Amino acid sequence: MSLILIILVVTLTSLFAIFRFKHRRFYKLAAKIPKLPGGLPIIGATHIFMTAEPKDYLPIMLDMIKKDMVIGSVWFGTQFAVILNTVEDFQKVLTSPNCINKPKLLFDAFFSDSASFCVNNNPHEKRRKLLNPSFTSLMLNKTNFHTNETIKGFINKINAKSDGKTIDIYHDIAACALRGTLHAHFDYDDDSLDYKVVKGFDDFKPLIMQRLGKPWLSFKPFFKLSKLSKQVEAVRTPIYECINKIIESNKHHRIKLEGRCVSTIRQLLDTKQKLSDEEIAEEIFIFIYASHETSALALSACLLLLAMHKNVEEKVFEEIKNAKLSEEFTSISNEETQSFPYIEMVIKETMRLFPPVAVTFRETIAEVEVGDYLIPPDTIVGLPVLLIHRNEKIWGKDAGSFRPERFEPEEFKKIPQFAFLPFLLGKRTCIGYKYAMYFMKIFIINFVKNYKVETDLKFDELKTQMTPATSLLQAIQLKLLKGSENFLIGQ
Ligand code: HEM
Repeated sequence: MSLILIILVVTLTSLFAIFRFKHRRFYKLAAKIPKLPGGLPIIGATHIFMTAEPKDYLPIMLDMIKKDMVIGSVWFGTQFAVILNTVEDFQKVLTSPNCINKPKLLFDAFFSDSASFCVNNNPHEKRRKLLNPSFTSLMLNKTNFHTNETIKGFINKINAKSDGKTIDIYHDIAACALRGTLHAHFDYDDDSLDYKVVKGFDDFKPLIMQRLGKPWLSFKPFFKLSKLSKQVEAVRTPIYECINKIIESNKHHRIKLEGRCVSTIRQLLDTKQKLSDEEIAEEIFIFIYASHETSALALSACLLLLAMHKNVEEKVFEEIKNAKLSEEFTSISNEETQSFPYIEMVIKETMRLFPPVAVTFRETIAEVEVGDYLIPPDTIVGLPVLLIHRNEKIWGKDAGSFRPERFEPEEFKKIPQFAFLPFLLGKRTCIGYKYAMYFMKIFIINFVKNYKVETDLKFDELKTQMTPATSLLQAIQLKLLKGSENFLIGQ
């Protein structure tokens, strides 16, 4: 018995020694990178996330990297990770061809690896090439009538609800953003499932967060056997009901193509890359998730900030009034939104303070040089956008306050390009950013034209959480005051 034990120990030790020797460069590079606090031998920082509540993951992660640290490293069991903290290093990673991939550990259990958010290496480049044509300015103009109509529909809907009451407005905005995406990118017009789909994603998000606290579930076979996997299947059902309808309706009815400008769904259905229905469904799943939640988070935070900063709300209103839009204006084109520079600054300042994606991750496929260090291959790289967005050395002493004027061209040109990353930059920058900015501007114009907002929430008390996008911890409770004599546009 003892002989077997000795053989076992010697074999395991030798295997470990061989493994370490083979990967000696990896360990040498990893050891050089300063360590983040809290890690334990063997398990690293796994215990911190296993014992914390998901709402605390973001503050824990941000706290780990101290203000004066430029880079910090941490192990999660056998997975090595680093967190960056300078604009220069963000730029290095986001522009490196060796750092385009999404970490499998974080994405695998929930998203199909055939969808654009998750496809890595060469397939990602091919998928972007396929989908880019449906996100051009030309395409935006094609969709402008429906985008405007969708938002007006939202204004009518909340008219009935508001009436001086305090309401949580997030879900209505999310349903409106979803409607916008389904129409603009998926040629789909039936709004009967909007709220069901938003609710489906609302139920889906906490399940993703639960999985992050259970590292053993990152192995697909374990995950498939888990209770969580069945819960995920259940919440995906209403979302897939909608997705299947989108695919079916688009298969049977062909929209007349105008020039080379085609919607996302047509690109997916007609491509020579021959995607299966399952692959198309996964792609739609990612698109409607990535588009409606981020836009709704940014817009609801923006309205909250307007309620807290009356001087800004007033300036927004003045801009709309001076644009001399008539009461009957039908639709504002993307070009026309250029006459609302202050609204654009307000939206950008909102996303600086409360970026809908406050932290994201990449995985290295080869060594990547950042500052004085080399990040080894197969390392997860954490990019805490929120820290860069609130860095006083970059944005000044008032980095923590809401001041849209910092986006005035003269002032903003002094800010390094990679210091403002609501849509990220580089090869994986948000494919929908032009559409998102257009949608948000039209939304704010219509909203402020009709309502003033008030809130009891206090700016200094606002906290963010990972969901896994980034939302405010507090529900967005707003009191909507319907148009008064102050709100007569074009008079
Ligand atoms: C305010 C609104 C939005 C914000 C703040 C936002 C932000 C982002 C960010 C930060 C990423 C990069 C994530 C990462 O790589 O980790 C991203 C990717 C993506 N976004 Fe957006 N987004 C918004 C709206 C939209 C819209 C409207 C669409 C589609 C209609 C969209 C579709 C996508 C897709 C497909 C990706 C993956 C791109 C890739 O990996 O190549 N997003 N978005």
